[in-house]
Amino acid sequence: MTFDYPESYVPLCRRLGLDRGIPYTPKWSAEADFLALAVAVLNDKLPEVIVECSSGLSTLVLARACRLSGRGRVYSLENGEEFAEATREALATYDLLDVAEVFHAPLCETRIGEDCWQWYDLSCLPRVTAQMLVIDGPPGFLQPLSRYPALPMLADRLAPGCRILLDDADRPDERALVARWQRDYPGLSVTWPETARGCALLRWPG
Ligand SMILES: C[S@@+](CC[C@H](N)C(=O)[O-])C[C@H]1O[C@@H](n2cnc3c(N)ncnc32)[C@H](O)[C@@H]1O
Repeated sequence: MTFDYPESYVPLCRRLGLDRGIPYTPKWSAEADFLALAVAVLNDKLPEVIVECSSGLSTLVLARACRLSGRGRVYSLENGEEFAEATREALATYDLLDVAEVFHAPLCETRIGEDCWQWYDLSCLPRVTAQMLVIDGPPGFLQPLSRYPALPMLADRLAPGCRILLDDADRPDERALVARWQRDYPGLSVTWPETARGCALLRWPG
């Protein structure tokens, strides 16, 4: 965990009382504006269950927002064991292990229709139904349309009206995979709030 993070995170850290440092890593941590948007959605919708693809600063922020709102629990999928442990340590620093759990979910070969991806092994994830889904992994360099499997693989765990936030949505792959999701799931609506790396904010049908 580092105390050395960009100025852009200061308002969010102040608002959430994250005064003992945050697990910030340049290039890998979600940007402050994306996290602020996620907190705004969380405070507006007060989800009971938040599922997250990739752990880190985002897990800490979501967990702290749950603590402050008095509602919600974060279930975070993390493929890297060392990253999962680092996130747990950050959560422990703020006594948040009761509102967030990081699951070590190694990437495994995942067949969807005719295609194969590397995606999280879901056998570790309890049978929860999410009202909010935050997608910030797996990393884009891994494969084309790296985050596409999130919706087909989690579809049966999403509540009607579930809010879905996809980070890095300015990248061509993310634009393409959102278009593919929209073909796959009629009624899936999307807006594109402006953030540093781009964000797609979707609403699951129903
Ligand atoms: C974009 S990062 C996720 C960041 C996380 N949502 C956050 O806000 O901190 C996606 C994945 O990259 C991996 N990762 C994180 N930091 C890394 C680093 N410094 N080097 C390589 N991979 C990293 C982890 O497996 C993480 O789940």
